[in-house]
Amino acid sequence: MSRTPLIVLLLVCAAAAAALPEDTVRASFPSLAFRVYPFDESRVSGLISTSIRGALDRPLNYARSYLASTLPSCVRRVVYLDSDVVLTDDIAALAATPLPGETAVAAPEYCGANFTAYFTPGFWGSPALSETFAGRRACYFNTGVMVLDLSRWRRAGYTAQIEEWMELQKRVRIYELGSLPPFLLVFAGRIAAVDHRWNQHGLGGDNYRGLCRGLHAGAVSLLHWSGKGKPWDRLDAGRPCPLDAVWSKYDLLRPAAGIESS
Ligand SMILES: *[C@@H]1O[C@H](CO)[C@@H](O)[C@H](O)[C@H]1NC(C)=O
Repeated sequence: MSRTPLIVLLLVCAAAAAALPEDTVRASFPSLAFRVYPFDESRVSGLISTSIRGALDRPLNYARSYLASTLPSCVRRVVYLDSDVVLTDDIAALAATPLPGETAVAAPEYCGANFTAYFTPGFWGSPALSETFAGRRACYFNTGVMVLDLSRWRRAGYTAQIEEWMELQKRVRIYELGSLPPFLLVFAGRIAAVDHRWNQHGLGGDNYRGLCRGLHAGAVSLLHWSGKGKPWDRLDAGRPCPLDAVWSKYDLLRPAAGIESS
């Protein structure tokens, strides 16, 4: 049996597609097979409610909910990665994560996180709404690193399910963050767990004050600068957090970027 080739698919907003730094990517990774898929922002812009963090309200943040229809139907499995990550391991191992039965999503789960905090008191106070999680071992997971089975996704119509929650959010405030809560509503407790090494998240720092954060205990296959602060901003401002040094080596838009292109 031949190994499925890994092809890198870049999602960009349609407005940026014309000016996309494709040459930058090609110059840095000459042997990389990649394809650019513009995301039609009008598909989701009418569904976005204002969150507590403006950066989360950008339509491209929601592109992950539309992969099943943005990518051709022959693409059956994808690894979705946010743009604020650095992989330090072979992504093929992550891509090969077993997805039992009709499971469509695999990601590291964090059952120690306070799940209640992701939804409003109004949500928990409504029996009709909070019943959504009845009988589910619902744990937080971060949507910045996910293995998705798009065939199962398409069959189950998960995009429409996510959109239904977003429509409800426009009428009744049931959460405060952006694209994450609808994912939790549809998938929490129904995902395949991935080792935590694949999402060392929170390196962007504290969501309110942007304080530096260190790595969690354990192995590291992927570093994720989720949270308010971003390494490129801190580096540009000359006030990096210690771990931002890892990012600076891979910052393609910095003239001094030191990517080996051999
Ligand atoms: C979890 O979060 C909710 C809502 O923010 C809060 O009321 C509750 O005290 C928290 N529970 C724990 C164990 O921290």
